[in-house]
Amino acid sequence: MEKFVVHGPCHLKGEVTISGAKNAAVAILPATLLVKGKCHLENVPNISDIRAYCKILESLGSKIEYVSDNELIIDNSEVSSAIASYELTSKFRASYYLLGSLLGRFDKVQIGLPGGCKLGARPIDQHIKAFKKLGAKIIVRNGNVYASKTEQLKGTNIFFDVVSVGSTMNAILAATLADGITTLENVAKEPHIVDLANFLNSMGANIKGAGTDIIKITGVKELHQKSSYSIIPDQIEAGTFMAAAAATQGDVLVKNCIPKHMEPITAKLIEAGCEVEEFESSIRVKMDKRPTSFNIKTLPYPGFPTDMQPQMSILLTLGEGTGTILETIWESRFQYTDELNKMGANITAHGSTAVFTGVEKIYGAPVIAHDLRAGAAMIIAGLCAEGQTEITEIHHILRGYENIIGKFESLGAKIEYIKTEDDE
Ligand code: EPU
Repeated sequence: MEKFVVHGPCHLKGEVTISGAKNAAVAILPATLLVKGKCHLENVPNISDIRAYCKILESLGSKIEYVSDNELIIDNSEVSSAIASYELTSKFRASYYLLGSLLGRFDKVQIGLPGGCKLGARPIDQHIKAFKKLGAKIIVRNGNVYASKTEQLKGTNIFFDVVSVGSTMNAILAATLADGITTLENVAKEPHIVDLANFLNSMGANIKGAGTDIIKITGVKELHQKSSYSIIPDQIEAGTFMAAAAATQGDVLVKNCIPKHMEPITAKLIEAGCEVEEFESSIRVKMDKRPTSFNIKTLPYPGFPTDMQPQMSILLTLGEGTGTILETIWESRFQYTDELNKMGANITAHGSTAVFTGVEKIYGAPVIAHDLRAGAAMIIAGLCAEGQTEITEIHHILRGYENIIGKFESLGAKIEYIKTEDDE
């Protein structure tokens, strides 16, 4: 068994450098399949989701040169297979981007259904609707999605029923090499969507409007190889360290982030009583008192990100007064509140709402990282708690945070990584 043991309490102090964005990288890696040539990617986060993606690409015939921990050269000139097994795809969510990218290149694609954090129902009906509108035939059977086309996909108008990051990205991938113009409406506007569009445009795609409500893609015949592209910094990793600095009443300079992307989080930290100073590519968060409670409603970008609510909940756990979180994206994201209650928090979660009655102190306990962001929240809670917090199921955390222990330790935290023999 693997676990983290966090020794609290501590006040985080110092500087931390943010890695490349997981949710941009997991779309850009499969996007390279649209090029029959090489793509040089920089600022790729060194996390297990990326290693899993590289394994899938290699199984399709990609040749990957690992230039350094954060730099890859992917050569897709000889990709010959469009089949990715359920065994590989079910390890994480973003394997669904293989559908859009491989459909651009092959007539028949077979992709196992995706996995990922258990946050409630995670349908892919909007992805399928987009592929069908573009002219593909889609069958879901035996844990696989079978997608096929008899001629090149055709540009069309797609109005999404829900604002969805994954289906917006997948539709962009599928429409890039389609014949004619595709218009996507009611799309997601997250920074990683803009990054995917920038990456594809830098190779000759014609995508306009990413980051707004309407995206227009004029299909091109082919993309050319890319000398180098640097992935944007991870908004959620940056937010996690900002929340940790505030919750531990610390003083942290978060480097290599885009302050504009951080605005919904910055606004809440200021409401909680933090001092937040923005620079060109860094943010300093300083807190020297107990947080004032506040309310959060999660929304698609530029609203407050659902992927930040567990980490921010530690401020509400320890806040003065009562605060609430209303989760509007995922139906089952409050499992972590049971873990915080084991530590002495006073949280009542019911349906899509959690009510936090602030307590002055929390105390170390054995807790579970139910998912990636819940796991990050457990670390922050451990750093605020008196005594020792043992976190299990940490494979969730390692999926999405590069060198998380090293980064926290550089800010003064004491966290042990323990792997027991029975794992060998
Ligand atoms: N939805 C549908 N049908 C679909 C797709 C989505 O009804 O076909 C619904 C979902 O059930 C959900 C909402 O639409 O209620 C939004 O889902 P979205 O498609 O935006 O989520 P996703 O693409 O599966 C990505 C991130 C998640 C993040 C969400 C929301 C990746 C790989 N994952 O998921 O990130 O929570 O967007 O911002 O980009 C994480 O990084 O920890 C994480 C879970």
